[in-house]
Amino acid sequence: MSLFKKKVAASLETLPVHIGIIMDGNGRWAKKRGMPRSAGHSKGAATFRDITRYCRDRGIKYLTVYAFSTENWKRSEEEVSGIMNVLRGYLRDAKNYTKDNIRVNFIGDREPLDEDIKALMEDAEKTSESFDAMTLNIAINYGGLPEIANAARLCAQKVLEGEISCEDITCEEIKKHLYTKDQPDPDLIIRTGGEYRLSNFLTWQSAYSELYFCDVLWPDFEAKHIEQALLAYSNRNRRFGNA
Ligand code: IPE
Ligand code: IPE
Ligand code: MG
Repeated sequence: MSLFKKKVAASLETLPVHIGIIMDGNGRWAKKRGMPRSAGHSKGAATFRDITRYCRDRGIKYLTVYAFSTENWKRSEEEVSGIMNVLRGYLRDAKNYTKDNIRVNFIGDREPLDEDIKALMEDAEKTSESFDAMTLNIAINYGGLPEIANAARLCAQKVLEGEISCEDITCEEIKKHLYTKDQPDPDLIIRTGGEYRLSNFLTWQSAYSELYFCDVLWPDFEAKHIEQALLAYSNRNRRFGNA
């Protein structure tokens, strides 16, 4: 086997199955250019489309992106509605997920979202149900802590109804009530924008994720940056507590 082939084989072997991305830095990207924050969110959405397709072509099976956190409601009404409009634009453009052969799934509490957005989200999920190149989880009004609290509530309810006993509340039982219940946990979590924190993203699921932080602001993030993250990941030694 040539050296080149050996290298490719090695990188495929160590490819993450599930990548999480905290797409941060839209506001600073816009500010640097004297533009409104909403311009950063629009450019960020274009980056999101490109990176999603790149990950699919690269053989990534699950991608979870953080688009709006349970804390992001603290922002101005103008910014929140700007972000929701960017989301509407993505959802209305159905070809984004149909011709891409990507299954779209939304994670987070949809309840407070506008009715038209909720309907578009359901449409996207139904239309893409059978697509199998990659599963894309889009986290909207998502927080890892409320997700765990909700799972705890559902377990308590099952105990009350006599379906399970307290002893049955194991990690496996809790996982059954998470948005990502049927999916593997993220192997790699990438955060752009230079902050070193998870900001309530996949709190339960990230227990053994490899973390990768980069300074590039999300709208400037490109395929070559994903490749750098994949390379760093392939050099990590995942021990899961083993010696
Ligand atoms: C991430 O970019 C997008 C959302 C949180 C919706 P930010 O808007 O947080 O950008 P910065 O961190 O202020 O630059
Ligand atoms: C995390 O970014 C949320 C998203 C990228 C959607 P934030 O910009 O909201 O996080 P903090 O406030 O810096 O922790
Ligand atoms: Mg931010």
